[in-house]
Amino acid sequence: MRTFAIAASVAALALSLVGSASADPIIIKFSHVVATDTPKGKASEKFKELAEKYTGGKVKVEVYPNSTLYKDKEELEALQLGSVQMLAPSNSKFGPLGIREFEVFDLPYILPDLKTLRKVTEGPLGARLLKLLDSKGIAGLAYWDNGFKQMSANKKLVTPADYQGVKFRIQSSRVLQAQFKALSSLPQVMAFSEVYQALQTGVVDGQENTWSNIYTQKMHEVQKYITETNHGYIGYVVIVNKKFWDDLPADIRDQLAKAMKEATDFNNTQSQKENEDALAEIKKSGKSEIIKLTPEQDEALRKAMEPVYKDAAGRVGQPLIDEFQKEAKSTTN
Ligand code: LMR
Repeated sequence: MRTFAIAASVAALALSLVGSASADPIIIKFSHVVATDTPKGKASEKFKELAEKYTGGKVKVEVYPNSTLYKDKEELEALQLGSVQMLAPSNSKFGPLGIREFEVFDLPYILPDLKTLRKVTEGPLGARLLKLLDSKGIAGLAYWDNGFKQMSANKKLVTPADYQGVKFRIQSSRVLQAQFKALSSLPQVMAFSEVYQALQTGVVDGQENTWSNIYTQKMHEVQKYITETNHGYIGYVVIVNKKFWDDLPADIRDQLAKAMKEATDFNNTQSQKENEDALAEIKKSGKSEIIKLTPEQDEALRKAMEPVYKDAAGRVGQPLIDEFQKEAKSTTN
């Protein structure tokens, strides 16, 4: 009789556990700093849709765009503490965390096109870089593109001399700091959510970003000129708190990995078009004049930024820079 009672209560407990598991989905808070109508904004929504579908509702993804939950600097700390489970920070954000190797992505003109970038991120080099995040309690799941950066300011930026004394907002990155120092500009680190206002009030004179970020943050409305330089790249690493990820039931983790793979394909096939569309909208608005450089002007800017490589080699090591450049050479040849 007693054995039966124990067996019955164990069964009831098991049932209630199953019941509460289905009643309480696993929550993934996914925070990011850009608008919903951007490559990253759309891809995070795509991940939510697929993750919830593939796990049959056992996982709920809450996406917080536009720095509504955390600003740039706070994001990574919150992930490490487990207050947020998923982020997609730009490559630039990992240098300040101590993973200096990611600084290479910020080097001017290091990635001549998306084809080269893809070879890096989808090859052994990309996998090796992701693995470096483990030591910080972070699991790197995927690389998402945004695109190439342009220079904007309230004055025409054509020759390297035009950059002299101009105050530029930058992400927190030693390479980006060195880049603007090489141009005799005054770089100032600032959170992405504060850029529009800083441009509007004249706290800074200019900034560098992709067409999609410029357009969705309305920066073109407070910048008279945008020079089409394509001098640098902004892309993201989708990351999760490693303990959270490792502790997930294996079947759920597999379904989430599948959702991430598809969201990544979605992002990386449409990011270029998103940026082209944003450029078209900026042109249509007539609010900013778009400046194109001649091949000679382009060459002069590249040359002026060259010292940045030497500066970066001291921190990340020349061999890693060489590896990136080798990929570029083998793509163009
Ligand atoms: C920036 O801070 O300019 C960008 O990294 C923002 C983003 O996430 O695209």
